[in-house]
Amino acid sequence: MRSRCWLSGAMAVVVVGLGIAMAVGLFVGLAAVQQRPPDVPYVPTPYEVVREMLKVARVGPKDIVYDLGCGDGRIVITAVKEFKAQRGVGVDIDPQRIRESNENAQKAGATDRVKFLQQDLFQTDISEATVITLYLLPSVNLRLRPKLFRECRPGTRIVSHDFDMGEWEADRTLRVRGPYREHTVYYWVLPAGVAGTWRWSVSTPKGERRYTLRLRQRFQKISGTVVTDGAETSISEAQLNGDQIRFTVVREIQGQKVTMRFSGRVNGDTVRGSADIQGGPFAGKRDWVAKRDPVNLSGTWRWQGGALRIERRNGQWVATLLQGNRSQPISDFYVWGAGIYFRLSEGTEITAEGVVEGDRLTGTWNGKPWTATRTKG
Ligand SMILES: C[S@@+](CC[C@H](N)C(=O)[O-])C[C@H]1O[C@@H](n2cnc3c(N)ncnc32)[C@H](O)[C@@H]1O
Repeated sequence: MRSRCWLSGAMAVVVVGLGIAMAVGLFVGLAAVQQRPPDVPYVPTPYEVVREMLKVARVGPKDIVYDLGCGDGRIVITAVKEFKAQRGVGVDIDPQRIRESNENAQKAGATDRVKFLQQDLFQTDISEATVITLYLLPSVNLRLRPKLFRECRPGTRIVSHDFDMGEWEADRTLRVRGPYREHTVYYWVLPAGVAGTWRWSVSTPKGERRYTLRLRQRFQKISGTVVTDGAETSISEAQLNGDQIRFTVVREIQGQKVTMRFSGRVNGDTVRGSADIQGGPFAGKRDWVAKRDPVNLSGTWRWQGGALRIERRNGQWVATLLQGNRSQPISDFYVWGAGIYFRLSEGTEITAEGVVEGDRLTGTWNGKPWTATRTKG
């Protein structure tokens, strides 16, 4: 309890400290040539913490590490020099930081494997990154979150020093002792989009058994039901780690308890893996290939009291909330296969999630059941 209080005290000091430094940074930043003032002031991550961040992400020779807001370049330089990352890219809006990063890369003999871009991190193409490191601020992490989901591949590892990602819970949280205080390191693996209806069949000595799995998703958290032989069962032990999915179905077949453990790799609308069936007449290990029903999210989804327009613009999903004659763009919007999730915090707070099947969307709106139907126009 005491250490918790101490930790929240320390966090408050960090946030206030960053806030003061930000004011100074704004002033200094304006004097330099840059697109706009930084969203976060420059505060370097101590090397002890840098190493723990790269360790938790298991950075190695296959990795391309991006540090968004790279300061003096220490994270990407350490990634290539000590963790043998293939390449590192640091992005900073402040030209002074980019100059320092280039000098440090030169001193470390790392110029062949790192590059530094003077850019607004919100404009950087981050799609090639396998690991992304951050030391920003809670509000900046939240603004960045939809970009991570839009641009990065499932399985991309994200590590943040001291600040979390709101309701996207970390897969791991570490406390690291630095020279002056205790630091927190948050670690996530970007999940694949798996929401929707999946179908497969498993061949058994008694013929094909057909399965229908309906999955819901909120970030890496998944839940759902499986229908087989006309009976519906909730899945248990469901896990989604990047593109790796696993879940268990426990059923009674011909009076015997049967435990089916499914695991596989998600690739678009296909999952391939194995099913380990224990108990019952079909016990054994089997290959498992599931296909997701095609889904179309585009359109205007209406319910009593409002509508949500979902459309594709420049290869990206865009959502707009329509209420009366108000039309409000939703920047914190996610598409996970057939599932959507969004948050609006301007004016009224809204958290909504749903899964589309045909012309029907079902889910929750601020925790209450929500149903919408697709209409023309
Ligand atoms: C807290 S420091 C972290 C530095 C480094 N990542 C580290 O951990 O040592 C944040 C850095 O983000 C940069 N920054 C702030 N807003 C930015 C933006 N919109 N685009 C790019 N860099 C930004 C600042 O200039 C600063 O160097």
